[in-house]
Amino acid sequence: MADDSRKVSYGTGINLELKGKIALVTGSSSGLGMEIAKYIARAGATVAIHYHSEKLQAEQLAGEINSNGGKAAVFGGDVSNRAEVEAIFTSIDRQLGSVDILVNNAGIDGKRELCGDDNPDDWERVIAINLLGPYYCAREAVKRMKKSGHGVIINITSVHEFVPWSGYTAYSSAKAGLSMFTKTLAQEVSESGIRVVAVAPGAIKTPINKDVWGNPETYKDLLTKIAMPRMGETSDIAQAVTFLASDMASYITGTTLVVDGGMLIYPAFKHGG
Ligand code: BGC
Repeated sequence: MADDSRKVSYGTGINLELKGKIALVTGSSSGLGMEIAKYIARAGATVAIHYHSEKLQAEQLAGEINSNGGKAAVFGGDVSNRAEVEAIFTSIDRQLGSVDILVNNAGIDGKRELCGDDNPDDWERVIAINLLGPYYCAREAVKRMKKSGHGVIINITSVHEFVPWSGYTAYSSAKAGLSMFTKTLAQEVSESGIRVVAVAPGAIKTPINKDVWGNPETYKDLLTKIAMPRMGETSDIAQAVTFLASDMASYITGTTLVVDGGMLIYPAFKHGG
């Protein structure tokens, strides 16, 4: 006999809804963060748009979301400054409520410098923004999420959490560190109903790597490093982040989802070893 209690309706859609949730996306005044903020808002979450220096762009994005039926507000500050991070979270508490979803997106590549010929101040800055920043934000988020009994933290890492990148020791070290932070924090907070995951983008067309895709020669070289015949779009990452933020990903924690069009499958080997 058919079990009617398990009957489902087909073709009614899949639930990626984030309605009722409050999401903070750091560094969402441009690039990946901006697209992530738009997708999360489209899924129904109220979005705290965070910027460091591009206030106007952040306000424009909030305006676009608010005038299209979404809800967004803007918060400025430096993620590598603990006091400023605390102030951002306090303002979000007051204006929107307690954060349910944190996307640690803010980051910089830094200058290309070889170790020894470099300026240690640059190294420290990359680590401060790309590793200390996510930690400070996660720390504030965890305090709130433990109280509410749920939450999702998504750390944007990079293929360079796995792949060494000459000239970018600080960046690669920060991303590998952020990956281990993801796993260790996930272990700490799983019993509190909090998931912690990472998304590792490959080469995504954003202002961060315009010097590479803006030049035909380096662009051609970059394509040899990607199995699919294209660079990634910001939407490729935003879709993955929206999925991971949703209940569809409710059994996923402490791991990295790589979204790289096949950079990590060594496309150069396609033509022989
Ligand atoms: C960097 C980009 C780079 C990509 C692939 C990313 O993490 O931010 O500049 O193009 O990795 O190397």
